[in-house]
Amino acid sequence: MAHEFPDGFFERADESGDARFYSVPRLVTHIDDGAIAAVGVLYEELEIDGDVLDVMSSWVSHFRRAPERLTVLGMNPTELAANPQARARVVHDLNARPTLPFDDDSFDAVVCCVSVDYLVHPITVFRDVARVLRAGGPFVCTFSNRCFPTKAIRGWLYTSDEQHCAIVAQYFRSAGGYEEPVIEQRTPRGVAGDPVFAVWSRSVNSRV
Ligand SMILES: C[S@@+](CC[C@H](N)C(=O)[O-])C[C@H]1O[C@@H](n2cnc3c(N)ncnc32)[C@H](O)[C@@H]1O
Repeated sequence: MAHEFPDGFFERADESGDARFYSVPRLVTHIDDGAIAAVGVLYEELEIDGDVLDVMSSWVSHFRRAPERLTVLGMNPTELAANPQARARVVHDLNARPTLPFDDDSFDAVVCCVSVDYLVHPITVFRDVARVLRAGGPFVCTFSNRCFPTKAIRGWLYTSDEQHCAIVAQYFRSAGGYEEPVIEQRTPRGVAGDPVFAVWSRSVNSRV
């Protein structure tokens, strides 16, 4: 794995296959209503629409208005089937197979909400997201300060919110194929509730 991260950074307390952990549907929300709204506002601000991929998805994708054609990719078929905004659903384990089952230039935007901390091969995944994105399309990662601790990478568990932003920004830089990432806290500081941090960047697709 990438040399800029220390040994053990991508290890997890539970190294068993993800299929087992995610075999039980969790039809819950993982962040509070204010945080969900903040994610939706960001997607709207970035004008995400058209062919959109939500990776590490579940039964909610948080768009205020569903994109024209939303594909959701995740681990649990029951969760994905319950996603009312999705047009297409793909069960795919990104830790077992860190490349995406889509053609080059398939999507106008890719999003990943409160899940980037579970990736054990994030740079391979980020590189492949750039491949499936059309030129100029954004990859938007949002996260809060909650997680399934046994499945999150150790490097995430031992770092702060600010460091999480720096880690995700480094994933973009190490993957290549993106502009310099933007980092923002999307919820007001010092206010009760789940915070939302966002790191996003647009693909600079060298194939066009
Ligand atoms: C905390 S939930 C977040 C779900 C959704 N993105 C949301 O905003 O509510 C984590 C999600 O990551 C997905 N996930 C975890 N490990 C994965 C893997 N190895 N490959 C693909 N998806 C994964 C699971 O299916 C699960 O739905």
